[in-house]
Amino acid sequence: MTSPQPLLPDHPGTVRFVLDGQVRVVQVVDPTRTVLQWLRETEFRTGTKEGCAEGDCGACTVVLGELVEGAVRYRAVNACIQFLPTLDGKALFTVESLRDPTSGRLHPVQQAMVDTHASQCGFCTPGFVMSLFALHRNNPAPDRRAVTDALAGNLCRCTGYRPIIEAALQLHQRGPVSTEGEGPGTEGHDDARLAAQLGGLQRHASLRVGTAPRRFIAPASLAEVGEVLTRHPNARVLAGGTDVGLWVTKQLRDLGDIVYLGNVAELKQIATTDAHITIGAAVPLSDAFDALVVHYPQLRDFFRRFASPPIRNAGTLGGNIANGSPIGDSMPILIALGTRVAMLRGTMRRELPLEALYLGYQKTGLHAGEIIERIVVPTPVPDTLIGAYKISKRFDQDISAVCAGFALSIEDGRIDMARVAFGGMAVTPKRASACEAALRDSAWNEATCARAMQALDRDFSPITDMRASSEYRRTVARNLLRKFLLESTRALGDAPGDLYGLEPSGYALSEGGAA
Ligand code: FAD
Ligand code: FES
Ligand code: FES
Repeated sequence: MTSPQPLLPDHPGTVRFVLDGQVRVVQVVDPTRTVLQWLRETEFRTGTKEGCAEGDCGACTVVLGELVEGAVRYRAVNACIQFLPTLDGKALFTVESLRDPTSGRLHPVQQAMVDTHASQCGFCTPGFVMSLFALHRNNPAPDRRAVTDALAGNLCRCTGYRPIIEAALQLHQRGPVSTEGEGPGTEGHDDARLAAQLGGLQRHASLRVGTAPRRFIAPASLAEVGEVLTRHPNARVLAGGTDVGLWVTKQLRDLGDIVYLGNVAELKQIATTDAHITIGAAVPLSDAFDALVVHYPQLRDFFRRFASPPIRNAGTLGGNIANGSPIGDSMPILIALGTRVAMLRGTMRRELPLEALYLGYQKTGLHAGEIIERIVVPTPVPDTLIGAYKISKRFDQDISAVCAGFALSIEDGRIDMARVAFGGMAVTPKRASACEAALRDSAWNEATCARAMQALDRDFSPITDMRASSEYRRTVARNLLRKFLLESTRALGDAPGDLYGLEPSGYALSEGGAA
């Protein structure tokens, strides 16, 4: 491996990142300028397109290379909602980065797209190419499902997905893509060289760009986050920007001073003990979900339904929880699992059950200058049934109308612990206490389920909005509980699931059970 390059001198007001193998030092005037705006308007690299400017269509997909434990990790993100200063210390790859600059040969991903006639209007194609480039960096032998998952954030309205999927599968059949800087289109992608370059860009002090009242401050440690937010308690905390980015691109909001958490190593740790999975608030959703699935494999399909890979690569679990949306997807199941949130304000720490964080519509109990530091999820309790369901109009990349999380512990044939939580049913993610009471101390069967379904009407008076009517939400919530009964009792070997011949999904007994 190439030895790390010396730390580069810092120039005030600039960010430093690698593009096409070269370190770029870029003056930042407006910290909320997006990566896409910089690419298209300053660099005239117009291969990266703007479709929606809200993370939904994938036309702006680029790949970031980030140094993680000495190696480069490649991930697709949406350039349209990433603020330019968040590139600091990373490598940026755009569709222009892929063609071999000497021979002009296309990258194997591009060549496969040509060979399978996978492009028509071409507007969406650069985004597809970049998602596939990231996929093949991380998974040289993807199956069809891995390919469709990787493309969940890319929309094509004309060609159809079949030839694009075919391109991805053919690419694998042609053999692995070189990472040694020798094959076509790999100039600037030599992992060892890039790791050394990125090593030279890492900061040991905070990054500060912009001018008051629009500064971008990226502390390098948790202690510094506490200090900065004590001095600037009303600064806007920024993590992955997959909510905050849209406030700028869609609502044209002025964010004022920004404190970015993405450079704080302590907030990017995941630690597991026998009792807990502790997830730092700035851990990307992709990594957080992977860590949870190790212990709760039954949640794998549920987490696939959360946005798209580029959004999960940028967005964080802390951001989802702190945003406090009533339709945030992580909260119902985390509440059902008994999750607690640890918070930090200056040097003061406190912890709350997750459900206690929510006070009203998008209103949390976080004080000014306080951040979520960690999310503490209990490891599975033996003989507990777990289920999570998301109801939305599309499978991928859609917002929930209703989202449910269930956890039932069964002892001697009776439910001795019931935790039920819903999103989309109230102004906050919320536990269903009447439903839980109807479940406790009873056998888990049709009669108990019917009582608990009725009790849900006492827990919630959902609203009608563009996603669903109140009556639809009530019906769906009741039916999700019944679906959970049918699927989970099938896992237990009882009759109802078998009776209906349903395939189980999104539930199972946790460790010690019969899943
Ligand atoms: P940011 O945008 O950085 O911040 C969000 C809010 O949290 C801000 O108020 C910020 O100040 C605050 N904040 C962030 N971190 C902290 C912290 N540690 N402490 C205190 N405050 C903090 N959400 C879903 O639930 N399900 C979906 O399927 C889904 N799909 C999406 C699809 C698209 C196309 C987009 C653009 C968004 C989607 N989202 C979805 C919303 C978003 O991706 C999530 O809410 C994400 O988890 C936000 O995390 P973030 O790190 O990007 O937060
Ligand atoms: Fe549509 Fe960025 S422009 S996702
Ligand atoms: Fe443009 Fe598909 S190639 S929409």
